[in-house]
Amino acid sequence: MFDLQKKLSGSAEAAIAKKFGISTTIHFGFSLEEGRGDLTTSAALSLAKQVKQPPQDVAKVIADAVQSVEGVEEASIAGPGFVNVMLASASLSEALQIAESFCVPATKRKDPPVILDYSHPNIAKPLGVHHVLSTILGQSINNIYKHLGYSTVSINHIGDWGTQFGKLAVAFDRWGTKPIEKYSLDELLTLYVRFHDEAEKDASLEDEGRKSFQQLEKGDKKLRKFWSEVVRITMQSMDGLYARLHVSFDYTQGESFYEDKMAPIIEEGKRKGVFKEGKEGALIVEFPEETKMPPAIVLKGDGSTIYMTRDLATARYRIDTWHPGAILYVVDVAQQMYFKQLFGILAQLKWDLPVLEHTLYGRMSFSDRKMSTRKGNILKLDEVLDEAVSRAESLIQERGDKIQTDDPKGLAEMMGVGALVYGILSQNRKMDMVFDWKKMLSFEGNSAPYLQYTHARAQSVLRKGEAKDPKLTTVTSLSTAERRLTKLLLLFGQTLEEARKDHLPHKLTNYLYEVCQAFNTFYNSDEILTAPTKSRAFRLGMTSLTARILKTGAEILTLRVPDRM
Ligand code: ARG
Repeated sequence: MFDLQKKLSGSAEAAIAKKFGISTTIHFGFSLEEGRGDLTTSAALSLAKQVKQPPQDVAKVIADAVQSVEGVEEASIAGPGFVNVMLASASLSEALQIAESFCVPATKRKDPPVILDYSHPNIAKPLGVHHVLSTILGQSINNIYKHLGYSTVSINHIGDWGTQFGKLAVAFDRWGTKPIEKYSLDELLTLYVRFHDEAEKDASLEDEGRKSFQQLEKGDKKLRKFWSEVVRITMQSMDGLYARLHVSFDYTQGESFYEDKMAPIIEEGKRKGVFKEGKEGALIVEFPEETKMPPAIVLKGDGSTIYMTRDLATARYRIDTWHPGAILYVVDVAQQMYFKQLFGILAQLKWDLPVLEHTLYGRMSFSDRKMSTRKGNILKLDEVLDEAVSRAESLIQERGDKIQTDDPKGLAEMMGVGALVYGILSQNRKMDMVFDWKKMLSFEGNSAPYLQYTHARAQSVLRKGEAKDPKLTTVTSLSTAERRLTKLLLLFGQTLEEARKDHLPHKLTNYLYEVCQAFNTFYNSDEILTAPTKSRAFRLGMTSLTARILKTGAEILTLRVPDRM
């Protein structure tokens, strides 16, 4: 909140207290709608009911009070009882100084850390394109937290344990043609797919796979070596992808990390009567009728651990190690019931728990293709990224002279990867997402290239104006376009906070889009370089702040923006 907002609230609240004898909070928010002033409040509408007076009369009390606040040009009543406040250009332009401070990370806060669990691919398979959702959403939520001064712990909880390793080992045993370390990730996938094809004809294979995993869990040396090679091969190929996406983790702690941390929890669960014997010797947890949740298995009848067993140990370990304020699991909506069960079990164990959130996202699809061809054959992330980049390359060629760059390859990478990332982060993660290349690579729409182009345009203005780092100045009169852009720039901090609070990065993305639109309108309607001295200085300062907000925001969203384009 800006000083001016606080002052308005203060005087409005005091006037209401004096007139009606009640204490209340009145918030003035920025308004971007034409004709609604610069700051507006609807407080009179709800207060009216409380004090049993017509809303217009209550609004008048508020308007009269704020009219005398320094920096207010005019306070007026509109509609059923809104109070719209027009600010003096000088105080509005002066506030930009504060907006500038949101371009650098905030000072560290003392809150307990937030743990973010994202990306978490399953080992022995290439990263499917759908994995990019968790990866990008998780990293951008992480970046938002960090930018606002929170400490975070990011963890790649890779799926490196479980029956699939037994299956892969069986497949390798039968059909392997060279030492495991010579295998590429694609070749491993072929083995895995073959296992499933053959298992359809020969059911005993599944059993063999299960047994093989049991052996692995018991510590079989040969299988252990096989397993660690497979993990190495997978992670190596992931590293390249993560670098391309500007994603990184504080820890890679896969499911195997909890191998020796599960037994004590099994004991505790049994002792507390939370884990009960179910069918065929399995251990299960039941939930109260009203939750309508089916019982969850925590240990198989043959004593093998499962995904859930490892997640219980994971939660314990994270709580003991970092004493977090919250743990966010950025995982597909398909696991919704699973996480309800996990959180339900943790509650029954009566541990002292942080906030636990399944930060879910909807399904992804492309308007022009299928996500998977046949069983096991997924649309691979690196292929989709390559396609995006080659589409961007053709676009750059098509545009010819209209695009200035000394590095077309670098620009194509930035645009192509950015297009996919932006496509994800501009949609509400809770909904199913449809991707359309035309839209994602458009220079005019809500897309990465538009954001990148707008940033380059602002930089080009600064270069032409020979203004490297222009200071923000104030002016006594603002044009319509300047006024709108100013208000938008003032909203950067508030937007970051809203995106953080709800873990919704699309709020930031769509804000940046609005800034781009407002900047381009301003650029097209107001002279910058040829304006009178005072105005030129202010406009250059505002252009520079726009560029900085676009770049800072983009990087928080894992995007990159060019200086020329
Ligand atoms: N590897 C899992 C999958 O791809 C997601 C892991 C999510 N994290 C967790 N702690 N369960 O389905």
